[in-house]
Parts: sequence; C-alpha cells; structure tokens
Amino acid sequence: MSRNILVTNALPYANGDIHLGHLVGYIQADIWVRYQRMQGHTVHYVCADDTHGTPVMLRAEKEGITPEQLINRVHGEHLRDFTDFDVAFDNYHSTHSVENRLFAEDIYGKLQAAGLIETRAIEQFYDPVKAMFLPDRFIKGECPKCGALDQYGDNCEVCGAAYAPTDLKNPVSAVSGAKPEMRSSEHYFFKLSDPRAVEFLREWTQGTDANGARRLQSEAANKMKEWLGEPGENKLSDWDISRDAPYFGFEIPGAPGKYFYVWLDAPIGYFASFKNLADKSGRIDVERFISAAAAGNTELVHFIGKDILYFHALFWPAMLQFAGYRTPTQLAVNGFLTVDGAKMSKSRGTFITARSYTEQQLNPAWLRYYFAAKSNGSMEDVDLNLDDMIAKVNSDLVGKFINIASRCAGFITKRFDGKLAAPDLDAMAVYRSSIEAGEVARAFETRDYSRALREIMRLADVANQYVNDHKPWELAKDAANTERLHTVCSTALNQFRVLAGLLKPILPTVAEQVEAFLDIAPLRWSQLTDTLPAGHAIAPYKHMLTRVERKQIDALIEANKASLAPAPAPEASSRQRHAEAQQKDAQAATTADPHIGIDDFTKVDLRIAKIVSAEHVDGADKLLRLQLDIGEERPRQVFAGIKSAYDPATLVGRLTVMVANLAPRKMKFGMSEGMVLAASDEGGKTPGLFILSPDSGAAPGMRVK
Ligand code: MSP
Ligand code: ZN
Repeated sequence: MSRNILVTNALPYANGDIHLGHLVGYIQADIWVRYQRMQGHTVHYVCADDTHGTPVMLRAEKEGITPEQLINRVHGEHLRDFTDFDVAFDNYHSTHSVENRLFAEDIYGKLQAAGLIETRAIEQFYDPVKAMFLPDRFIKGECPKCGALDQYGDNCEVCGAAYAPTDLKNPVSAVSGAKPEMRSSEHYFFKLSDPRAVEFLREWTQGTDANGARRLQSEAANKMKEWLGEPGENKLSDWDISRDAPYFGFEIPGAPGKYFYVWLDAPIGYFASFKNLADKSGRIDVERFISAAAAGNTELVHFIGKDILYFHALFWPAMLQFAGYRTPTQLAVNGFLTVDGAKMSKSRGTFITARSYTEQQLNPAWLRYYFAAKSNGSMEDVDLNLDDMIAKVNSDLVGKFINIASRCAGFITKRFDGKLAAPDLDAMAVYRSSIEAGEVARAFETRDYSRALREIMRLADVANQYVNDHKPWELAKDAANTERLHTVCSTALNQFRVLAGLLKPILPTVAEQVEAFLDIAPLRWSQLTDTLPAGHAIAPYKHMLTRVERKQIDALIEANKASLAPAPAPEASSRQRHAEAQQKDAQAATTADPHIGIDDFTKVDLRIAKIVSAEHVDGADKLLRLQLDIGEERPRQVFAGIKSAYDPATLVGRLTVMVANLAPRKMKFGMSEGMVLAASDEGGKTPGLFILSPDSGAAPGMRVK
C-alpha cells in the first residue's frame, strides 16, 4: 500500500553556518526520503530556518543590520549548502513567516481554551544598560561550585555543575558587561504538569505508530521514562513560553510586550513550511497531514538530533494533542558528530563548515557515503574518522562499485556498438534473491544504512568476483570468445545497474550519472529484479567518481582552522585561559555597541613591514609564508591566506602593513608571528584580496596609528 509521509528535519538556527555535525541528520533524512520515493510512496519533505530569539537579535545588531536582513541572507546560505549536499527539501521556509504566525496563534489560542496556559510573575536577571532581560546564556560569572571564572549562567564548563543563573557569583551581562539586577516580570506558561498532559505523554512516548513501529527509539523511550518518572509521580514542570521585549519573534495575542519564546514557534515552523509548500503546489491536502480529525493514513516523521529530544518528545506532542492537531508518528533521533574521536574543534580545524567542504572541492558524495556507512538508526554518536573515510570511499565506492563499470563498459562500446547482450541469469540470481529477501529495503526503512551498505558491498564483491573469474580482458584476445565477452560484460553492467539502484538513496548524483550512462529511466525499487533487454544501447563510459586523497582532507582541516584569532599558547594555565577568555568576552561585549574607544584601537600595534621573502607552503592551499622586516633584529615569519591573489615573486621587496602584537600562533607549518592586512569584498561582487601599501617615504618598523 502506498504511504503518505510528511518528513521534516530540525530547523537550523539562523545565526550560524551549516557544519558537518548538522549534516549527519539532514543526510540521514534525505536518504530515507529518497528511499521511500523509490518505493513509490508519496513524501513531502520540508525544513526552514529557525529565526527567532535573542541570539539572532543581538547578532544582527552587532552586524549593524536588521534581524530580517540577517535571516534573509542566512536563508540563502543555508539553502545553498543543503542543495550542494543533495539534501533536497521540497520547501525551505522560515519561522518568520505569515504561515507560522497563524499556526502559532491558533495553537496558543487552543491551548488557552483548554485551560493549559497560565501566567505567573518570575524573577529574572535584567541588564540595566541594554534594558533587557537576559537569557541564561548571556549571563556570566564565577561557578558556585568550583569558583571557575567566566562561566555561563546555566552550567560550568570546568567542573560540569548545572545551576540557575542566580547561583553564579559576581554575575555580569555578556551583552553589555553591566552588573545585572533582579527584576520581576509576568510570564506565560504551558501547563505541562497538568495531569492530562503527563498521562498523555506517558502513553505517547512509549507507544507505537499505526505500523507497529515504536514512535521513539528504545534509548529515547528510556530517557522519557526517566524524565516522566513512575506513574503517579509528576516530574514535569510547566514550560515558560513567553519572553519580554525587546525580542525578535511573534508578539503574543492579547499580551502587549510579550513574545512567544523561540522554541514555541520553532517546531510549528514544520507546519508553516508544509502549508507554504501546499499553497505553492495547489495539490496537497494540508489538513490530511496535520489535523487530528482529518489525518487519515498519513505519517508525520521528524528527524532531529539528540540534544533537542526534550522539545520534540514532550512539549511538541503535548502542544499538538491539546490543540487538536495530529501528533508525530515517529521521531528519528541522531547522535552527535565527533571528528577523529573528539568533539569538533575550531582550533584543531575539525569544526568543518559545509561551505568550506565544497569550496575545497571535496565531493559531497564521499561524505554522504561515509555518514551512511556510520548510521545504524540509533542515537549513538557518529565518528567521522578521516583516515577511515578515505579508506572506505576509495575501497568501497571507487574500488568496488565504480570499478565494475570501468572494467566492462569499454568492451561494449568498442566491440559491440554500445549494445548489450542478454545477461547470464545464473549470475544475476544472487542479486535477485537478495532483493527479494528485502534485507536492504528493511535496513533503509529502519535507517540502519550501515547494514544496507554491508549487503550492497557484498553484492559488489560478487560482481567483481564474476569479472575476475571470467576475465573479459583475456576473452577479448580471441575472436572465438566474442559472444562470451559480450555476455560477461553485459552481465556485469546489469549487476552494476542494480547496485546503482540500491545506492541511489545515498548517492543520488552518482545514480543519475549511471542512469545517463546506461540510458535508462530513473531507477525505482520495484525494477531492481529486472534486467536490461538484449540490444539495449548504452552511452560511452565517462568516469563518475574520483578517489579521495589525504592532502585534500588536510587542506580542508587547514581551511577550517580559526586562523585569524590568536590561539592561547598550549602551556597557558587554565586560570590564564580564563583570564584570556574573559578579555575576549569583554571585547565581544563592547562590540554590541558599534563604537570602540581610542584605547581599544591603540591596543593594536600596526607596523610598516617590508616583505623580504615570500614562498608557497607545501600542503597549504591558501597560505604564503612571508618574512617581514619591521626593523627588528630578525624578520617575522607570517603565514598569510593570500595565495589565491598573489604570485610570491611579485611581493618580495614591497612594503605593507602588519599587526605586530598578535600573540604568536603555532601552525602546522611553523610559527606565525603576526598578521598581514588585506581588503576583500566578502561575499560581494568583486573577488580577490588586496594587501595594503603605504605612501612612499614610509620605512619598515614605523608605527601606523
Ligand atoms: N533550531 C533548533 C532546532 C529547532 S527544530 C524545531 C536547533 N538548531 S541547530 O542549528 O542547533 O541544530 C540543527 C540540527 O542539527 C539539530 O537536529 C541538532 O541536533 C543537529 N546538530 C547540531 N550539531 C550537531 C552535531 N555536532 N552532531 C549531530 N547533530 C548536530 O537545534
Ligand atoms: Zn565549576
């Protein structure tokens, strides 16, 4: 029976770039959607930017633009990143949209009518300089447990303690640096502790969908048991859903100056994006997917990361249930990405943005393949082991899969006018029986893509063994074997066709290339037991996928090192690090005000520098190694990211401007002892980098101020 599924991915925040950690969940969802469509099911796949809240408001202010301008720009960037990685939403909308406002007001109104909204005054930190209440993350102070300086208002990164911001010693506002004061304000609460809500959630979180599949993975269901407590127990607190102005969001109807908290309207954004899609297409019945009364045999599946399970397994289903909407069929929760076994890190260059990956010309198919190979449908963290990725992509994808076509296609083109013979059905039998047994299909359905790939690679081994056994290159030497050669190559290409079909949800672009090469219609699951008829003509073979090289990965890591910020010296004590961090924050805090004082400016020691040598750096795509004379005993070594714009030979002898008091930074290629200034039109129309030159008469070492 054909299914109708609305699939969503978590909505990324509009104040950050998409990175490889995000992509774990987006790629997992996209694979699932493509698989369901190959099975002939109807899937609507939507996402949006999560635009509201204090961080977006402050970030826009810092950039000197409106929140609307910021979210419009980021919307374009995010959509481009997803598209580059073949994550193909049917609609990519925004929570700052008319549809979202309407749904949010409707849901809120219904919860209110159901007696589940309550107001209560709460005491909260208030920044008297910025005239705003401070979210926990914007308050810093000393940890009440261990005394560590400069800790956030909700937990200590040094000792791990969790606390309320009011427990911090010597709290300061991270926005203005001011000492916050306690103020009382009226807040709106969703009464999650209401016995109706608790009872509903206890049932919902442990339940199954119409197909008998669990709504939550077992790890998630167990977490819920912990959060909900034993029957009779009530561990849930009411949920604070309002924030005071100034806030970027939707004002609450009937409550001037109060706004919906970003997490109230964020998941509603799933419906807003879907409604927007339906209005554009004119052929989708929205009610059937989202209303409790009208939801027939439709499914609602949310793909999310494990850090936002609480919102999706408690608040969201309860909101929907008591507002008369349908509740989700399934939550597909992914674990967190680590790189080479550790948390992603900006200083190590493993906080890898989607943009840098494509800019460094790495193939998104490699990452999709590797993430699939590491996804087993559980909430376990996923490790991107860079050497393992290289090995897997090269040996499985290129060595086993692509290799089949590259070994056989030439003979068909050169010797048989591009036309296939009927395949050897005995050799196809393993393929047919695997597909009929449904192992790969079940693995895709349960999001155990690593199991799917193990079976697919077993089949690829079978094809390679077949080619090895029959040696087309030997058969080709003797005219008596012409017919045999034709059958062997045609069989291998039929096997290749099936493999491409099985891999298609994971590698859509490669599969399209295969479809063009074999000159066939888009592959569907039900056709995978068929074979191509004798006489079917194929196109000449063109190479479809290159191998990954370690140096490409090294360049990617290099490109992601936070190269302009001075890293603290590794031997610095943790106290020193805290002091430095605090200084950085004080700087960040002052940037909320668009002006700096002259004192801030004079902290930067700018000097005229003479470039005494300039050279390429082995293994670095962007950097030049410069030796800069600023009138000191020996020249400074500086790595500058200007390789794309300058031939080193043309730089030698020139005068330019450098920052001379930047803390030295240890890079892979050596110490960098300063920074060269260059102009660029970032993201604008004029590409390139332009270093500065002083007027004649300036001499090395002169101070610029
Ligand atoms: N805006 C919220 C989601 C609202 S959904 C109604 C949010 N945004 S996010 O940008 O921080 O994250 C988007 C998705 O990426 C979430 O599913 C999150 O769990 C996931 N991930 C973010 N960092 C991740 C890793 N390092 N690893 C794996 N997934 C990660 O949360
Ligand atoms: Zn602490």
